[in-house]
Amino acid sequence: MAGGVVRFDIFTLFPEMFSSPFDASIIRRACEAGRATLTVHNIRDYATGKHHMTDDTPYGGGGGMVMKPEPIWNAVERVLGFDPAGRPDVPPLILLTPQGRPFTQAMARELTAHERLLLICGRYEGVDERVRQYLATDEISIGDYVLTGGEVPAMVVVDAIIRLIPGVLGDPGAAADDSHASGLLEYPHYTRPALYRGYPVPEVLLSGHHAEVDRWRRREALRRTYERRPDLLAHADLSQADREFLAQLDAEED
Ligand code: ADE
Repeated sequence: MAGGVVRFDIFTLFPEMFSSPFDASIIRRACEAGRATLTVHNIRDYATGKHHMTDDTPYGGGGGMVMKPEPIWNAVERVLGFDPAGRPDVPPLILLTPQGRPFTQAMARELTAHERLLLICGRYEGVDERVRQYLATDEISIGDYVLTGGEVPAMVVVDAIIRLIPGVLGDPGAAADDSHASGLLEYPHYTRPALYRGYPVPEVLLSGHHAEVDRWRRREALRRTYERRPDLLAHADLSQADREFLAQLDAEED
């Protein structure tokens, strides 16, 4: 990441979908502070022919429509200034598709290493296979469900990356404490009042003993992960004390 700036180019048939999500909150601030630039390109602007068609019927028959390769390819080529196909030095060209690699926090972190990222939002029944095979360098899915297109997934990926760019979150430690950052779910949070509708805040958090608070938070993160996402524990960074606490939770279950 060059000085903590990521340049995003998003290719879509529905650019208007991006205006309000990118115009609010942390993403907007990141752009205003020059930490990220977001440019949304309308694939239709690169379609040729009288009708500016961006989709067509599938070869071999069957229902539905397929996004044509030319408008997408032309758009990417124009924005990059060269045809990226087969070149080793291209920025990641990510196709959002339910067939892609499942998106994770680790992938978000890896992607912040790039100065530039290009995201292609698929629509309709799919995108001509040649885009996937020869133009895209990566395919990402945001989960095992099917959305109407890659626009919302692209927003998810951009959001997850932007908040990791240094200086974007107010508190530099905030991203490090996140759920998933350390391989565990995050500990519970409380703020004033200490007693709300009869529900108290755990005593230890009011004690002012930082070491005790840290220990409690670590244990709650472990407990939560153990209860909700035990699959994460296999890859989490665990100390001997963490393992002993988990063994204790296991024993309590029996
Ligand atoms: N397009 C449609 N569904 C999707 C998903 N789950 N992830 C990425 N792109 C998609």
